[in-house]
Amino acid sequence: MRAGITRPFYKILASCWRNTGCRHLNAAGTAVMDTPQNIWRLPTLNEAVRSQVRHSANAGGQWNAATGKPEYRVLPDKEAPLWRPNKQWPGYRHFHIICKTLTFAPSPGAHPNKQVLWTPNMTKHNFSAGPAILPAAVLKEAAKGVVNYLGSGLSILELSHRGPEFTAVIEEATALMNELLELPEDYHTLWFTGGASTQFFMAPMNLLNPDDKAAYVDSGVWANKAIKEAKAFGNVEVVASSKEQNYSFIPKGIKIPGDAKYLHITSNNTIFGTQYQRFPKSPAPIVCDMSSDFLSRPVDVRPFGLIYAGAQKNLGPAGVTTVIVREDMLGTVQRHLPAMLDYRTFIQEKSLYNTPPVFPIYVSMLTMRWLKKNGGLKAMHRRNKAKAALLYNEIDANPLFRGTAAKEDRSLMNACFVMAAGYESLEKEFLKTCDANGLVGLKGHRSVGGFRASIYNALPKKSVQALVDLMRDFASKKG
Ligand SMILES: Cc1ncc(COP(=O)(O)O)c(C=O)c1O
Repeated sequence: MRAGITRPFYKILASCWRNTGCRHLNAAGTAVMDTPQNIWRLPTLNEAVRSQVRHSANAGGQWNAATGKPEYRVLPDKEAPLWRPNKQWPGYRHFHIICKTLTFAPSPGAHPNKQVLWTPNMTKHNFSAGPAILPAAVLKEAAKGVVNYLGSGLSILELSHRGPEFTAVIEEATALMNELLELPEDYHTLWFTGGASTQFFMAPMNLLNPDDKAAYVDSGVWANKAIKEAKAFGNVEVVASSKEQNYSFIPKGIKIPGDAKYLHITSNNTIFGTQYQRFPKSPAPIVCDMSSDFLSRPVDVRPFGLIYAGAQKNLGPAGVTTVIVREDMLGTVQRHLPAMLDYRTFIQEKSLYNTPPVFPIYVSMLTMRWLKKNGGLKAMHRRNKAKAALLYNEIDANPLFRGTAAKEDRSLMNACFVMAAGYESLEKEFLKTCDANGLVGLKGHRSVGGFRASIYNALPKKSVQALVDLMRDFASKKG
């Protein structure tokens, strides 16, 4: 029997598990878990025990491809009331834990396909470019909201978007955005559907008359798409492009025509791994696609007339797009604007002209709470710089790999690299090795090839360390 676990604990736990479909404790006093319902809820865990559980290496509950072992964790008691009605879990009982230590061992029979609740992104290192990793605490809270929103007896998905509960959510989301970005009074935070791709045409539609001119910087695939869409609404002057060199750098020293109504830039080029380290000085207001580095660093918004960002990188699930717009940018175009494509409708109606994407807004609000709690944008920027330095140092030092973006323009969000000359044939093998070790989403976009590690706000440093360790290990075996 494991030290520190008392008999009564075993007895109670065993009966709970039996009732919820789990088997028994083995001779060593550890849990044998081999059913899809290997979930346990311990509502009356005292604080001491709970903190030990949280810090236990065994916290988890899902198959870990990296270690080849299942991982378990225990629900803290504040989450337990959700399950008390017992409709879904008729065998569930309350009980007291009188132990000092909880130790769970993996079941030899456990299977990777068995699903367990409450294990958000605990077993994989998610380097996906988007939809991307979200903070585990946010996923956990969001999952609770889906089941029973703040004890209302309804899911957040079922609540009226005009009711008090959702009104509080969207108001808090807007207030948090205003606070995190330190928005001046004349800026509005709006919530749209349609992704950043809708903003490619909606921005020029609202800002440009047919005779007006807008300056655009062509710094990547997304910028290029924005340029194509804007051409339908006014005169577009592409003032700089890095296309000739496969968008491997950010064009600098650009000349912006004095009559341009705005300058459009993409702050972070997700596909090519380049990012503005300093924004251009522009006589015209800047319109910026900030989709892939939104809320990753402090930004002085004053030079910006409009900022838009799809949520699915740093903010929340796909389905909501944030628009920050300065009041004086609007009301100057003559064309008819359909209500749903007019920023002013969303200002007037506080983004509730029609049914907004309630769940993505809810999760975005939770992410911003997390951001605030974790020190806001300054702290995020510090963390992001440290993570990026760790990875780029390895890319530069490791003879097997080569970075693709100009060093001074390297993105803190998306690090792109390829196999170095002579090692190209190892690309697939490296990706397979990453996958086998639980490092996912690393395949580069087809226009760059190789690898792209997206290291957004929510990705912990230990995930970057895991990638660096793997690169080193791979080089020591193959170099
Ligand atoms: C910088 C940037 N802009 C725009 C988009 C398109 O966003 P959406 O799919 O939300 O339309 C993306 C998607 O990855 C992006 O990275």
